Amino acid sequence: MKDIKAIVFDAYGTLFDVNSAAEKCKGKIGDKWEGFANFWRTTQLEYTWLRSLMRRHKDFWQVTEDSLDKSMKAFKIDNSMKSELLNLYKVLSPYPEVKEVLKKLKEKKYRLAILSNGTPSLLNELVKSNNLENIFDDLFSVEEVGIYKPDSKVYDMPVKKYQIKADKAAFLSANTWDISGGGNYGYNAIWVNRNNNIFDNLDFKPKNEINNLTQILNIV
Ligand code: LAC
Repeated sequence: MKDIKAIVFDAYGTLFDVNSAAEKCKGKIGDKWEGFANFWRTTQLEYTWLRSLMRRHKDFWQVTEDSLDKSMKAFKIDNSMKSELLNLYKVLSPYPEVKEVLKKLKEKKYRLAILSNGTPSLLNELVKSNNLENIFDDLFSVEEVGIYKPDSKVYDMPVKKYQIKADKAAFLSANTWDISGGGNYGYNAIWVNRNNNIFDNLDFKPKNEINNLTQILNIV
Protein backbone atom coordinates (compact mmCIF):
# COMPACT_ATOMS: atom_id res chain seq x y z
CA MET A 1 0.00 0.00 0.00
CA LYS A 2 1.62 3.25 -1.15
CA ASP A 3 1.22 6.91 -0.14
CA ILE A 4 -1.05 6.18 2.78
CA LYS A 5 -1.62 9.42 4.72
CA ALA A 6 -4.13 8.31 7.30
CA ILE A 7 -4.97 5.11 9.12
CA VAL A 8 -8.55 4.93 10.32
CA PHE A 9 -9.69 2.34 12.85
CA ASP A 10 -13.06 1.00 13.79
CA ALA A 11 -13.33 0.92 17.60
CA TYR A 12 -15.59 -1.84 18.90
CA GLY A 13 -14.28 -5.30 18.12
CA THR A 14 -11.23 -3.92 16.32
CA LEU A 15 -9.33 -1.97 18.99
CA PHE A 16 -11.49 -2.78 22.01
CA ASP A 17 -12.78 -6.19 23.03
CA VAL A 18 -16.60 -5.99 23.06
CA ASN A 19 -16.83 -9.29 24.93
CA SER A 20 -14.64 -8.08 27.79
CA ALA A 21 -17.56 -6.55 29.75
CA ALA A 22 -19.45 -9.87 29.96
CA GLU A 23 -16.20 -11.79 30.43
CA LYS A 24 -15.38 -9.76 33.53
CA CYS A 25 -18.75 -10.90 34.96
CA LYS A 26 -18.38 -14.57 34.00
CA GLY A 27 -18.20 -15.57 37.67
CA LYS A 28 -21.76 -14.30 38.11
CA ILE A 29 -23.14 -15.08 34.63
CA GLY A 30 -21.64 -18.56 34.36
CA ASP A 31 -20.79 -20.57 31.22
CA LYS A 32 -23.37 -18.81 29.09
CA TRP A 33 -21.39 -15.53 29.29
CA GLU A 34 -19.92 -15.87 25.81
CA GLY A 35 -23.22 -16.73 24.10
CA PHE A 36 -24.77 -13.81 25.93
CA ALA A 37 -21.95 -11.43 24.89
CA ASN A 38 -22.31 -12.44 21.22
CA PHE A 39 -26.10 -12.07 21.33
CA TRP A 40 -25.78 -8.60 22.93
CA ARG A 41 -23.30 -7.48 20.25
CA THR A 42 -25.40 -8.87 17.38
CA THR A 43 -28.58 -7.26 18.72
CA GLN A 44 -26.80 -3.95 19.24
CA LEU A 45 -25.60 -3.93 15.61
CA GLU A 46 -29.01 -4.99 14.27
CA TYR A 47 -30.54 -2.04 16.11
CA THR A 48 -28.04 0.37 14.50
CA TRP A 49 -28.88 -0.90 11.01
CA LEU A 50 -32.64 -0.95 11.65
CA ARG A 51 -32.67 2.52 13.17
CA SER A 52 -30.73 3.89 10.20
CA LEU A 53 -33.16 2.28 7.75
CA MET A 54 -36.15 3.55 9.74
CA ARG A 55 -34.53 7.01 10.09
CA ARG A 56 -35.05 6.82 13.85
CA HIS A 57 -31.60 7.52 15.19
CA LYS A 58 -30.82 7.04 18.85
CA ASP A 59 -27.24 7.31 20.06
CA PHE A 60 -25.01 4.27 20.53
CA TRP A 61 -25.19 4.37 24.30
CA GLN A 62 -28.98 4.13 24.22
CA VAL A 63 -28.81 1.38 21.60
CA THR A 64 -26.30 -0.48 23.78
CA GLU A 65 -28.68 -0.31 26.73
CA ASP A 66 -31.75 -1.27 24.64
CA SER A 67 -29.94 -4.29 23.22
CA LEU A 68 -28.65 -5.25 26.67
CA ASP A 69 -32.23 -5.27 28.02
CA LYS A 70 -33.32 -7.74 25.35
CA SER A 71 -30.20 -9.89 25.75
CA MET A 72 -30.55 -10.13 29.53
CA LYS A 73 -34.13 -11.29 29.10
CA ALA A 74 -33.11 -13.81 26.42
CA PHE A 75 -30.36 -15.26 28.66
CA LYS A 76 -32.32 -14.96 31.92
CA ILE A 77 -29.71 -12.74 33.56
CA ASP A 78 -30.88 -10.90 36.65
CA ASN A 79 -31.62 -7.22 36.10
CA SER A 80 -29.39 -6.32 39.06
CA MET A 81 -26.37 -6.94 36.75
CA LYS A 82 -27.40 -4.28 34.27
CA SER A 83 -25.53 -1.29 35.68
CA GLU A 84 -22.35 -3.33 36.23
CA LEU A 85 -22.38 -4.53 32.60
CA LEU A 86 -23.04 -1.03 31.29
CA ASN A 87 -20.27 0.49 33.40
CA LEU A 88 -17.84 -2.16 32.16
CA TYR A 89 -18.85 -1.40 28.56
CA LYS A 90 -17.54 2.15 29.07
CA VAL A 91 -14.06 0.88 29.90
CA LEU A 92 -13.64 -2.08 27.53
CA SER A 93 -10.15 -3.52 27.34
CA PRO A 94 -8.06 -3.19 24.20
CA TYR A 95 -6.82 -6.33 22.44
CA PRO A 96 -3.30 -7.25 23.64
CA GLU A 97 -1.29 -5.90 20.68
CA VAL A 98 -3.20 -2.64 20.20
CA LYS A 99 -1.17 -0.17 22.28
CA GLU A 100 2.21 -1.29 20.96
CA VAL A 101 1.14 -1.16 17.31
CA LEU A 102 -0.52 2.25 17.66
CA LYS A 103 2.64 3.69 19.22
CA LYS A 104 4.74 2.36 16.32
CA LEU A 105 2.35 3.82 13.74
CA LYS A 106 2.39 7.15 15.56
CA GLU A 107 6.19 7.24 15.30
CA LYS A 108 5.81 6.81 11.54
CA LYS A 109 3.81 10.06 11.45
CA TYR A 110 0.57 8.77 9.98
CA ARG A 111 -2.60 10.56 10.88
CA LEU A 112 -4.38 8.13 13.18
CA ALA A 113 -8.10 8.23 13.79
CA ILE A 114 -10.99 6.24 15.17
CA LEU A 115 -14.20 6.18 13.09
CA SER A 116 -16.97 4.67 15.14
CA ASN A 117 -20.64 4.27 15.91
CA GLY A 118 -19.75 5.26 19.51
CA THR A 119 -20.77 8.64 20.89
CA PRO A 120 -18.02 11.25 21.39
CA SER A 121 -18.13 10.79 25.17
CA LEU A 122 -17.95 6.98 24.91
CA LEU A 123 -14.97 7.20 22.57
CA ASN A 124 -13.22 9.77 24.77
CA GLU A 125 -13.71 7.60 27.83
CA LEU A 126 -12.50 4.43 26.09
CA VAL A 127 -9.37 6.15 24.87
CA LYS A 128 -8.73 7.83 28.23
CA SER A 129 -9.32 4.75 30.38
CA ASN A 130 -6.79 2.87 28.25
CA ASN A 131 -4.17 5.69 28.25
CA LEU A 132 -4.42 6.20 24.50
CA GLU A 133 -5.34 9.89 24.53
CA ASN A 134 -2.07 11.04 22.93
CA ILE A 135 -2.26 8.60 20.03
CA PHE A 136 -5.20 9.74 17.93
CA ASP A 137 -5.55 12.88 15.82
CA ASP A 138 -9.33 12.49 15.74
CA LEU A 139 -12.14 10.42 17.21
CA PHE A 140 -14.83 10.57 14.53
CA SER A 141 -18.28 9.67 15.84
CA VAL A 142 -21.43 8.95 13.84
CA GLU A 143 -23.18 11.48 16.08
CA GLU A 144 -21.73 14.17 13.80
CA VAL A 145 -23.86 12.86 10.91
CA GLY A 146 -26.77 11.25 12.81
CA ILE A 147 -26.75 7.91 11.01
CA TYR A 148 -24.88 4.66 11.56
CA LYS A 149 -22.33 2.76 9.52
CA PRO A 150 -22.37 1.69 6.74
CA ASP A 151 -23.96 4.94 5.50
CA SER A 152 -21.41 6.74 3.31
CA LYS A 153 -21.85 9.95 5.35
CA VAL A 154 -19.95 8.19 8.12
CA TYR A 155 -17.02 7.14 5.93
CA ASP A 156 -16.94 10.68 4.48
CA MET A 157 -15.84 12.28 7.74
CA PRO A 158 -12.07 11.52 7.79
CA VAL A 159 -11.74 12.09 4.04
CA LYS A 160 -13.33 15.53 4.33
CA LYS A 161 -11.36 16.58 7.39
CA TYR A 162 -7.99 15.43 5.99
CA GLN A 163 -8.80 16.55 2.43
CA ILE A 164 -7.52 13.32 0.93
CA LYS A 165 -8.99 10.77 -1.43
CA ALA A 166 -10.32 7.64 0.27
CA ASP A 167 -7.63 5.55 -1.43
CA LYS A 168 -4.98 7.49 0.52
CA ALA A 169 -6.34 6.06 3.73
CA ALA A 170 -6.26 2.58 5.19
CA PHE A 171 -9.41 1.53 7.04
CA LEU A 172 -9.19 -1.31 9.52
CA SER A 173 -12.11 -3.15 11.02
CA ALA A 174 -12.71 -6.58 12.48
CA ASN A 175 -16.36 -6.34 11.41
CA THR A 176 -16.86 -7.87 7.96
CA TRP A 177 -19.86 -5.63 7.16
CA ASP A 178 -17.85 -2.52 8.11
CA ILE A 179 -15.06 -3.60 5.76
CA SER A 180 -17.65 -4.05 3.00
CA GLY A 181 -19.01 -0.58 3.80
CA GLY A 182 -15.64 1.17 3.99
CA GLY A 183 -14.25 -0.78 1.04
CA ASN A 184 -17.22 -0.02 -1.19
CA TYR A 185 -16.78 3.61 -0.20
CA GLY A 186 -13.21 3.53 -1.54
CA TYR A 187 -10.91 3.01 1.43
CA ASN A 188 -8.04 0.57 1.39
CA ALA A 189 -9.96 -1.79 3.58
CA ILE A 190 -7.99 -4.18 5.76
CA TRP A 191 -9.99 -6.88 7.50
CA VAL A 192 -8.75 -7.76 10.98
CA ASN A 193 -9.96 -11.34 11.06
CA ARG A 194 -9.33 -12.03 14.73
CA ASN A 195 -11.49 -15.16 14.98
CA ASN A 196 -10.91 -16.99 11.72
CA ASN A 197 -14.31 -15.94 10.36
CA ILE A 198 -15.72 -16.14 6.85
CA PHE A 199 -16.05 -12.93 4.85
CA ASP A 200 -19.40 -11.59 3.62
CA ASN A 201 -20.85 -11.81 0.11
CA LEU A 202 -21.57 -8.12 -0.40
CA ASP A 203 -19.76 -7.51 -3.71
CA PHE A 204 -16.52 -6.49 -2.04
CA LYS A 205 -13.47 -8.40 -0.93
CA PRO A 206 -10.84 -6.74 1.30
CA LYS A 207 -7.40 -5.96 -0.14
CA ASN A 208 -5.73 -7.39 2.89
CA GLU A 209 -6.67 -9.73 5.64
CA ILE A 210 -4.71 -9.85 8.89
CA ASN A 211 -5.24 -11.75 12.16
CA ASN A 212 -4.27 -8.94 14.47
CA LEU A 213 -3.01 -5.36 14.16
CA THR A 214 0.69 -6.27 14.30
CA GLN A 215 0.64 -7.25 10.63
CA ILE A 216 -0.36 -3.73 9.55
CA LEU A 217 3.25 -2.71 10.15
CA ASN A 218 4.21 -4.79 7.07
CA ILE A 219 1.44 -3.36 4.90
CA VAL A 220 1.64 0.44 5.17
C1 LAC B 1 -17.87 0.79 15.68
C2 LAC B 1 -18.57 -0.53 15.67
C3 LAC B 1 -19.17 -0.85 14.40
O1 LAC B 1 -16.94 1.04 16.47
O2 LAC B 1 -17.68 -1.56 15.95
O3 LAC B 1 -18.26 1.61 14.85
